[in-house]
Amino acid sequence: MPRSPIKRPPASLDISRTLRTVEQLPPQLTGQALFGRDLPLEIEIGSGKGLFLSNAASAETSHLFLGIEIMDKYAQHSAGRLAKAELDNAIMVSGNAEPLFQERIEAGTLEAVHVYFPDPWWKKRHRRRRVVNPTSITNIARALRSGGRFHFWTDVLDYFETAVEMIAEITPELGVPIPEEELEANHDLDYRTHFERRSRKYHIPVYRVRYEKR
Ligand SMILES: C[S@@+](CC[C@H](N)C(=O)[O-])C[C@H]1O[C@@H](n2cnc3c(N)ncnc32)[C@H](O)[C@@H]1O
Repeated sequence: MPRSPIKRPPASLDISRTLRTVEQLPPQLTGQALFGRDLPLEIEIGSGKGLFLSNAASAETSHLFLGIEIMDKYAQHSAGRLAKAELDNAIMVSGNAEPLFQERIEAGTLEAVHVYFPDPWWKKRHRRRRVVNPTSITNIARALRSGGRFHFWTDVLDYFETAVEMIAEITPELGVPIPEEELEANHDLDYRTHFERRSRKYHIPVYRVRYEKR
């Protein structure tokens, strides 16, 4: 299914506080280094239009949120959403999450990692491009603190089953998958992400789990 068009934020909106390039990031991604505050840090990989990040940051003001989005236009759009909501506990990074997890996150430091509706990469030969892969799972498990959460939602059954098997085999310290419930949607933005809204609109089943690191 093609993605809907994306708008860059208007020039009148200042996104300098809510958007970073990889070059502008501190060497280690901690709450203190990013926000000047020692609060629990949650990271979303592949934020798309940024609905989860802005809703979560508004709801949980005692946590810090970092969204990482590889497509610059989407990172800018999400940064615009954060700036418009005047959030001071969330930042978007325009860049690739994989090297950031590999090199810039200390072990046992993250409160949560969120991956919602990652690109499916249907073809077998493209599978290693998936955001949830053996390397990323190892990095995510290492980065989480004990008791930290990994949320993974997808509408691709094969992706879901492969990821659950992979996690059981490679990172048993993440424990067992805990099913997550969908929210009741009374409003157009009562969804965790835009892709969740789309799946519900077209009656596509969604597989939702959370892991809690032992
Ligand atoms: C299918 S979209 C889902 C977006 C959003 N999570 C949602 O549910 O609406 C997947 C997003 O992940 C981003 N992405 C893919 N690989 C990435 C990577 N290595 N690092 C950061 N973002 C990535 C894509 O650009 C895309 O915006």
